[in-house]
Amino acid sequence: MERRRIGILNSGGDCPGLNAVLRGSVRAAQKLGWEVVGFKDGFEGLLPPGRFMMLDRHKTAGIMPLGGTILGTTNKGHFVAKVGAHGTKAVIAEEIIEQARAVLKGLRVEGLIIIGGDGSLSTALQLQEAGIPTVGVPKTIDNDLEATAMTFGFDSAVACVADALDRLHTTATSHRRVMVIEVMGRHAGWIALYGGLAGGADIILLPEIPFDYDKVIDAVNKRTEDGCLSTMIVVAEGARPKDGAIRTRATAAGEYRLGGIAESVASEIAGRTDRETRVCVLGHLQRGGAPTTLDRILGTRFGIHAVEMIAAGQYGYMVSYQNYLVTEVPIADAVNRLRLVNPQGQMVMAARAVEVEFGD
Ligand code: F6P
Repeated sequence: MERRRIGILNSGGDCPGLNAVLRGSVRAAQKLGWEVVGFKDGFEGLLPPGRFMMLDRHKTAGIMPLGGTILGTTNKGHFVAKVGAHGTKAVIAEEIIEQARAVLKGLRVEGLIIIGGDGSLSTALQLQEAGIPTVGVPKTIDNDLEATAMTFGFDSAVACVADALDRLHTTATSHRRVMVIEVMGRHAGWIALYGGLAGGADIILLPEIPFDYDKVIDAVNKRTEDGCLSTMIVVAEGARPKDGAIRTRATAAGEYRLGGIAESVASEIAGRTDRETRVCVLGHLQRGGAPTTLDRILGTRFGIHAVEMIAAGQYGYMVSYQNYLVTEVPIADAVNRLRLVNPQGQMVMAARAVEVEFGD
């Protein structure tokens, strides 16, 4: 007798913990006697003739400590459901959806687990609305989805920032320098806030709290007067001065990428204080490498729950983490709702309590 089959793919930027989800899903599915088709390179693997690999406990053995994803991924291609700086909705072409439907039917895939961030979940929603049964698993190092208290990948990114700060601290102190560290996170400051706090940053600049250059300069000068040997500034890529714009770079493909704010902050400080200043952009280091234990466990639990949702026929829903429990929410309620740092929230207050300046 033919065994039931489900499909799984990850889409968008990679992040530590993706392989834990794949492994968790495969093990949970095998326990039910199901087969798992892993589609390669994001949604593009759904296009004819279908790019996929059969996943089983042997293919997924030993992958949990690996960063990235054994399936490969992309944030481009035929299934993009959001474009531009403000995430404008893009409609996936009908023929593309029909091609994907035919590939899934040919492979006898009855339900598709889609691991992705806001953009990929928007694609999942369009597929679901077109009658392709989908279950979402939230993924992003940015931790910016309102519908889940946490996404896997975030903790690993924060650990990377904290480790970088530990290293940069010693060189900054030896040279009596100001170090400006730019971190990822798009329009949310979670990585900067958590990473900065864990790494003992002195100044943290967030998208949610536009900063005043005069205040940043005052804070640097005050630290120098107080005899501090270095000043560590963590700036989120989406941060901006009160009277200025977010720094972005347009690409040839008409996309935009955040980045460059650390250079602006550093040149302002170098020009207006007597401190030598250096910049370190952490970039994709934050997305690479082994996931932390927390991300391995969260990823595993998310993967298991996605299979349970398919078993229950709960399509059109996304796995969500709430109050230490893995649960689910409608994908339609999850997309387009970003969770940003609350400038009056406990985390910002805790940082202020240990003398972190936000330049406001
Ligand atoms: O959303 C995850 C993220 O790493 C952001 O923090 C960052 O702005 C972006 O992706 C980078 O994307 P790419 O890998 O396409 O340069």
